[in-house]
Amino acid sequence: MKILGVVGARPNFVKMAPLLREMARHPIIEPILVHTGQHYDREMSERFFSDLEIPPPDVNLAVGSGSHARQTAEVIKRLEPVLVERRPDVVIVVGDVNSTFAAALTAVKLGIPVAHVEAGLRSFDRTMPEEINRLLTDAIAQFLFVTEESGRENLLREGVAPQKIFFVGNVMIDALEILRPKWERSSVFDRFGIGSGSPYAVLTLHRPSNVDREEALEALLAGLAAFAREIPIMFPVHPRVRSRLNGRAEIHWAKEGTEARLPAEGILGADPLGYLDFLALAGRARLVLTDSGGLQEEATVLGVPCLTLRANTERPATVTYGTNRVIGTHPARILEEGRKALAAPRSSGKRPPLWDGKAARRIVQVLLGDQR
Ligand code: UD1
Repeated sequence: MKILGVVGARPNFVKMAPLLREMARHPIIEPILVHTGQHYDREMSERFFSDLEIPPPDVNLAVGSGSHARQTAEVIKRLEPVLVERRPDVVIVVGDVNSTFAAALTAVKLGIPVAHVEAGLRSFDRTMPEEINRLLTDAIAQFLFVTEESGRENLLREGVAPQKIFFVGNVMIDALEILRPKWERSSVFDRFGIGSGSPYAVLTLHRPSNVDREEALEALLAGLAAFAREIPIMFPVHPRVRSRLNGRAEIHWAKEGTEARLPAEGILGADPLGYLDFLALAGRARLVLTDSGGLQEEATVLGVPCLTLRANTERPATVTYGTNRVIGTHPARILEEGRKALAAPRSSGKRPPLWDGKAARRIVQVLLGDQR
């Protein structure tokens, strides 16, 4: 059975790693890995392959950056001949990035069944590019693997046949658990001069709605800078955000060639971190502030309070079971909720059902037609 997995962007690598590891346990499966090249910087791509122990891709489409239309179109154009030549029995796509939808569309038009891992999540905000990718991918996939109950409900409401939907848990949590012994040994704390008891927060930002509009970014930074007087904030910066932040007084950058040391207060901007270093850092944080989807889930399992800097979440299980609070982007609200989180006794929340590190196993069993 030939199973071809497609990855393109940073969170895809995390989700595909446990699937590849599981497939390797079944000699009947011939896995093929295609990297679209949507993310290509060493720190956004190669570093993740090595941290997550993913073998080099069999094919790299090298599409690179571009407008949404261009990027999506390039993946479709370049993937089609690969699928025609390799003729996989199933194509697995993960998450909600442009590469996910582009690959699903290409496969389905060639009559190849598509398995979507992390199906059914909905923010109900169609201005988010990811929401469009999710809706379209789910509409054409044959196997819809959901991470949480809301995913199943959303798909049923959209008219998806129940027999196509499989509630299997969360492969991102599989990765976190498989690599726990490695990330627990990370040296990231020494590199940033963070002592074992010293409190800090971790920040990530990359959503277009937060960083592409000057006004929105301005407001966010005002709130974050005010909060950073209470606790220092470590901010590994996504490359799309870097140029917008250069020269901002709210952020201290490590000078090139010098050690980046987390100050007693304020925001320390840093290059993007690898998977292992980032999880180690998030795991010991007093709280995380983020607009990422995956980090809301990781914080839930790490038992670290998470303040989501968005108006909505497509991952409601992180709120009902986990440590997540969706607080929006108003500066006063960031300060207020941040203070509240610091004052509250630490409660680790609960794991959502089936976030037990065995999602990849369940998925591969379904694909092999063995649903024990
Ligand atoms: C993409 C996904 C987003 C996901 C995120 C994780 C879409 C629509 N968005 O957003 O859902 O949460 O990945 O990081 O697919 N860039 C580099 N080096 C890289 C990659 C990107 O410098 O290796 C810069 C380029 O300026 C590029 C910009 O980041 O134009 C945006 O990259 P792109 O892949 O289009 O979207 P992300 O913002 O990374």
